Amino acid sequence: MREKIIIDTDPGQDDAIAIFLALAAEDRLETLGVCAVAGNVPVVQTTANALRIMDVAGRRAPVYQGAEGPLVYELETAEFVCGPDGMDGAGLPGPVSVAEDGHAVDFIIRTLRAADDASITLCALGPLTNIALAFRLAADVKAKVKRIVVMGGAMNLGNITPAAEFNFYVDPHAASVVFNAGIPIVMMGLNITHKAICTHEQVARFAASETATGRSINGMLTRPRPASLGSVGHPVHDMCVIAYLLWPELFSGRDCDVQIDASDGPLRGRSTIDWNNRLKKPGNALVIDTIEPQTLFDRAIEKISILS
Ligand code: RIB
Ligand code: CA
Repeated sequence: MREKIIIDTDPGQDDAIAIFLALAAEDRLETLGVCAVAGNVPVVQTTANALRIMDVAGRRAPVYQGAEGPLVYELETAEFVCGPDGMDGAGLPGPVSVAEDGHAVDFIIRTLRAADDASITLCALGPLTNIALAFRLAADVKAKVKRIVVMGGAMNLGNITPAAEFNFYVDPHAASVVFNAGIPIVMMGLNITHKAICTHEQVARFAASETATGRSINGMLTRPRPASLGSVGHPVHDMCVIAYLLWPELFSGRDCDVQIDASDGPLRGRSTIDWNNRLKKPGNALVIDTIEPQTLFDRAIEKISILS
């Protein structure tokens, strides 16, 4: 049985590589839809980028445009990291395919309502605004979610601020709604994703696949990177979410209580992870803290090489 997934995303170069992997793994994953959300760049652009990714991959999943901004705060984007259109280095033309009619949140609600209990996995690669809106508008759909695998948060330093990781910083209210929804969560924080960095040899192997997708990934991973982001090389944060679905044996973690600070101050978006269970509360997330990055990328390179 293939795992049914909905990808919620703000492409974004690392989102693109995650989506490529999901599309390539259609033997294991049934991608029901790709929902764009505002994050790295505004939602009109993240929607266009999702379409560009499908066009180059030669594989299709319905794309829906979602929330234009966070639940409460003004949208803050990250063009200084991903470039004016969010896809610096990808070398992709504008989209040829078009998004589906209707809002992404309506798609999420409609799809979950039509599903069996605990049957659909949500893959959250951007700010959690769409998913939080779906849970707030239709609380009944939570029962249809098997698990939510989230790229977000940090056990130690943040990236967009010293305290917070970008996805949780942009919409901490949405992150708090999702982490308190009572649904099984797997959390990929920066403590892990900053280890998800290709070697130079692996980056070259993407291009050596001689596919448009491989060349695009190589370009995205060899583009310049601001030194202020605390890592050498481009962490492929979001691919860890899809890789976890395919190869969970490459990861390990611990059930912990995780709370997200929504205050409008220096701790905005901070994920507080009760790693040592000091509060004696039941865990609301499996917080991943080990990864085997080189095996992960070897497998991903091979899987993605089947795309066009
Ligand atoms: O902090 C990294 C996360 O923020 C990644 O998902 C990246 O694509 C951006 O959305
Ligand atoms: Ca993202």
